[in-house]
Amino acid sequence: MTDRVALVTGGGRGIGQAIAVQIAAEGARVALLARSEDELNHTAKLIADHGGEASIHVADISEAGRMAAALAAITAHWGPVDVLVNNAATVAPLGASATLDPDEWADAITLNVIAAARLSFAVLPAMLDQRWGRIVNVSSSIAAHPGGMLRANAYATSKAALEAHTLNLAAELSDTEVTVNAFRPGGVDTAMQAWIRDQNPEQIGAELHQRFASNYEQGTLLTAAQSASLLLPQIATSATGQIWDAADAT
Ligand SMILES: NC(=O)c1ccc[n+]([C@@H]2O[C@H](COP(=O)([O-])OP(=O)(O)OC[C@H]3O[C@@H](n4cnc5c(N)ncnc54)[C@H](OP(=O)(O)O)[C@@H]3O)[C@@H](O)[C@H]2O)c1
Repeated sequence: MTDRVALVTGGGRGIGQAIAVQIAAEGARVALLARSEDELNHTAKLIADHGGEASIHVADISEAGRMAAALAAITAHWGPVDVLVNNAATVAPLGASATLDPDEWADAITLNVIAAARLSFAVLPAMLDQRWGRIVNVSSSIAAHPGGMLRANAYATSKAALEAHTLNLAAELSDTEVTVNAFRPGGVDTAMQAWIRDQNPEQIGAELHQRFASNYEQGTLLTAAQSASLLLPQIATSATGQIWDAADAT
C-alpha cells in the first residue's frame, strides 16, 4: 500500500473509518469521503496521529455531480485513485414493504448500488492505464440470504445487486491487474447497528428488532477494527471476483 492513493467512502465512522485507518497504517494516502465533516476530521486526526496522511472530502455521493466534484478534488490533490473502497451505505428504509415510500427505497438503491458503480466507473480508466487497481465493495451477509432479513427489502436488494455488479465487473476485467471484490464485514458494532436497535419494533418487525438487540446484548458483534483487519490482508492480494465474508474468518 505504500504511496498508493486510497479512497474510502463513509470513512468518517464505523467500518469505513477502521478500513481507512488500517490502509493508512500500511502506507497509503487516504481520501475520506462522506457528508459529516466533523466525523471525517476525526478520522483524519486518527490517521495523522499515527503518522499517516489523509484528506477529507464532504459530499453526498448519491448526488452524481457532487460525487464527481469530490473525485476531481481528490485526484487533483493526490493523483489517480489506486484503491477504492465503496463502503458508504444505508440500511433504511426498514418496514413492511406495502408501507414503504418507494422514493426512499429508490434512494437506498442510488446510494448502495448506483453511487458505488459510478465511482468505480470513474476511477477505472486510470487504474486500467496504470495496470493496477483495487476495488472493494462492502456488502453484507444478507446478499447470501436475501430472504433472511424481513422488512429490509431495499437493503437486501441493494447488496445482492452490488455483489452481482462486483462479480460481473471482475469477470470483465479478469485479464487486467485491476481487481474487484466484495467484503461482507460481519455483524459490527457501529452507528448503523445502533440505528436499527433504535427503531420501533412495530415498524421494523419484532423479529428483526429482537435479532439486532440480542446480537448487541450478547456481545457477539465485531468491533469495526476487528472487521477491517479481516479485509486488509485480502486487498494486498491479486485475487479478483471474490466474496470475502468475515464469518469465514471468525
Ligand atoms: N455494521 C454492520 O453490522 C454491517 C453489517 C453488514 C454490512 N455492513 C456494511 O458496512 C458498511 C459500513 O457500515 P457501518 O455499519 O460502518 O455504517 P455507518 O456507521 O452508518 O457508517 C456509514 C458511513 O457512510 C457514510 N454515508 C452514508 N450515506 C452517505 C452518503 N449519501 N454520501 C456519502 N457518505 C455517506 C456515513 O457518513 P455520513 O452520514 O456523514 O455521510 C458514514 O461515514 C455499509 O456498506 C454497510 O451496509 C455493516
